[in-house]
Amino acid sequence: MNTYQVNQEGYYGEFGGAYVPEILHGCITELQNAYRQVLDDPSFKEEFALLLRDYVGRPSPLYLARRLSERYGCKIYLKREDLNHTGAHKINNAIGQALLAKRMGKRRIIAETGAGQHGVAVATVCSLLGLECIVYMGKTDVERQHVNVERMKMLGATVTAVTSGNMTLKDAVNEAIRDWCCHPEDTYYVIGSTVGPHPYPDLVARLQSVISEEIRRQLLEHEGRDYPDYLMACIGGGSNAAGTIYHYLDDTRVNIVLAEAGGLGIETGQSAATINLGRMGVLHGSRTLVMQDADGQVLEPYSISAGLDYPGIGPMHANLAARHRATVLAVNDDEALRAAYELTRLEGIIPALESAHALGALPKLKFCPTDIVVLTVSGRGDKDIETYLAHMPNQSAS
Ligand SMILES: Cc1ncc(COP(=O)(O)O)c(C=O)c1O
Repeated sequence: MNTYQVNQEGYYGEFGGAYVPEILHGCITELQNAYRQVLDDPSFKEEFALLLRDYVGRPSPLYLARRLSERYGCKIYLKREDLNHTGAHKINNAIGQALLAKRMGKRRIIAETGAGQHGVAVATVCSLLGLECIVYMGKTDVERQHVNVERMKMLGATVTAVTSGNMTLKDAVNEAIRDWCCHPEDTYYVIGSTVGPHPYPDLVARLQSVISEEIRRQLLEHEGRDYPDYLMACIGGGSNAAGTIYHYLDDTRVNIVLAEAGGLGIETGQSAATINLGRMGVLHGSRTLVMQDADGQVLEPYSISAGLDYPGIGPMHANLAARHRATVLAVNDDEALRAAYELTRLEGIIPALESAHALGALPKLKFCPTDIVVLTVSGRGDKDIETYLAHMPNQSAS
């Protein structure tokens, strides 16, 4: 079996597990017992696949970016998750978990969100399936991603602004967990990334693995071989990356490059580069790398990108880094902004700020002309337009 995958106990190497308060033990055990059974059920598979095709618009294209390829001296394909309904990869997971919640008899859905993309995806699916939806979002993120807040409200969700900590994703997760503790019976918590207690990292990775399943098929059509030389993705909690690499985890012909948010620079104290800066700890129910001080207090992360502004990382990715299966690069705000403008001017694609971090890793690598690179554009940049306009470069990137 695949050694980089989760084991029976919910661990990736020494990372993972389920560290939850007593009151949630029942919910987590129920979920652990149900998720594989539901995901493997042919009627679930059929319902999920139909919604991914007809509602989300999958498969998302694998686009050969010729001008970007020329710039970096290799062949770069973009996996276009930005073209999904609601504008990001998050919808794949939201649909899967909402269908799972329904089959588990839960009709009250809660979620956390950073950039708002996961919140919008969950609000969308809840409206589609007629479920109640409450979304927790840090007040800082409510302000910097206000278009997504309006979308969630229009979709009928209750958006609760969280004012603890630095009012970003970590604080929203804390609040969602608090809500779950108060309503363990009727509530399902749709986590938006490969984080949290087991089985969430594995559940989310499986639901997002449709990305690498499609890459295999599409590369075979384009290139006559079903694997690339490089897979690249940004990592907040790790879900678009997990989906991108899922079917290639054990294929060592494929180099995995992950981009985390360097913020103002990893040495500045204003960063969200958890794999570079973190130490082993427990965050939100999982044993993983955590940005923390000498006393084990969780440090406030910083990134220009709301979706990467998180002091933890999925246990799968912590393990991939610890075992040197993945190269993890910190990409700073300015590098991501430059990369976003470069893609916009070379290819006519405005990426999400999160995805721009994956693009910002391209100049840090040395490619051969024959190298085939697949880079996931996890979302579209509409939500980030104000930030982009505030950082408009003086001259065109092309
Ligand atoms: C477009 C986009 N990409 C990436 C991320 C980061 O999340 P993950 O690492 O789970 O893919 C987010 C999170 O909000 C996002 O909105």
